[in-house]
Amino acid sequence: MAYYQSKPVAGRHFLQIPGPTNVPDRVLRAMDNPTMDHRGPDFGKLGLALLEKVRAVFQTSGPVVIYPASGTGAWEAALVNTLSPGDRVLMCETGWFASLWREMAERLGLRPEFLKGDWRRGADPEQIEARLREDKAQEIKAVCVVHNETSTGCTSRIDEVRRALDAAGHPALLLVDTISSLASIDYRHEEWGVDVTVAGSQKGLMLPPGLSFNAISAKALKASETARLPRSFWDWKPMLAANATGYFPYTPATNMLYALDAAVDMLLEEGLQNVFARHDRHAEATRRAVRAWGLEIQCAEPRHYSSSLTAVRLPEGHSANALRAAILEKFNMSLGNGLGQLNDRVFRIGHLGDFNDLALMGTLSGVEMGLAVAGVPHKAGGARAAMDYLIGNAV
Ligand SMILES: Cc1ncc(COP(=O)(O)O)c(C=O)c1O
Repeated sequence: MAYYQSKPVAGRHFLQIPGPTNVPDRVLRAMDNPTMDHRGPDFGKLGLALLEKVRAVFQTSGPVVIYPASGTGAWEAALVNTLSPGDRVLMCETGWFASLWREMAERLGLRPEFLKGDWRRGADPEQIEARLREDKAQEIKAVCVVHNETSTGCTSRIDEVRRALDAAGHPALLLVDTISSLASIDYRHEEWGVDVTVAGSQKGLMLPPGLSFNAISAKALKASETARLPRSFWDWKPMLAANATGYFPYTPATNMLYALDAAVDMLLEEGLQNVFARHDRHAEATRRAVRAWGLEIQCAEPRHYSSSLTAVRLPEGHSANALRAAILEKFNMSLGNGLGQLNDRVFRIGHLGDFNDLALMGTLSGVEMGLAVAGVPHKAGGARAAMDYLIGNAV
């Protein structure tokens, strides 16, 4: 029986929330090694190799710092290392997570400006450019965008956001949350001129929750020298100083670093472009299933469809939470709930991380059976439509 499962159920639980995702056996085996002396000579070798290797996943040659924290910690680290009290930051209302990041900025004493969104598409580069052009005094110090909004299944085009900053000729830093996109959806920290990339361990990286990351540009590092928000645990300076020899300024999450080492190897062995293509293909198959069921995809802009999850709207008068509860009860599968204003309106299918065609077909079959047992009006044949797509686009 799975740990903390309330009743005995045969077979493996389907964890198809959009993170935490399923942890591959190879990663579990790596974690299952004795914890080592984090100040001993062997640790430095591991640290140096890992801190170098992980850069490839962010598509950067610059430093990546690793915190023993969930993604929220890395959000805070990105803000407190680069900004000063009262600084204006431009944020985009893509959904629940963008809203939480904005609230954090406010609590830290920043002045966030929230570009309004309808939770059905990614950030709008034209809106960003227009606001930056207006800011003649260059009071806006950072633009913050959630690359993949996990609450809606909409992915913002960071390359276009970068071009918007450039077109406006504005020097603001670009801070990007890739918590549910890194290692699932193509993301290029360096090429796209991102200053701080925020990431977490529990999604595309296929690890348990507990690590988070900042990839840092030279411009962000320079900004950190004069940024005045109070910081201690999150401070890049002692972290980077210790990282130079493979160590950390405080006790690192040693066994999670073993896990990260194994996960990065798996991603690089598969090839990042193949990892992205695998996610794209599973996302397209999922959307075909949703359309065949006659249900609506929450993301209303096809260019912003997410490859790591699909949020599905329920017909008016039907409860997404009741559907999820039925699927958990009858088929032992967890799906993501609707967050904030989408509570009970949508359910979210996670198709990211350690995932393959048969896992996808199990997931979609579970959803289709759930729709039937929960009495949600739909057409049968979604799983079949997905299967046809997978067959027609076999790899
Ligand atoms: C896009 C995004 N940002 C931030 C967070 C917050 O991260 P955490 O819950 O790991 O602190 C999440 C969590 O799911 C997320 O999906």
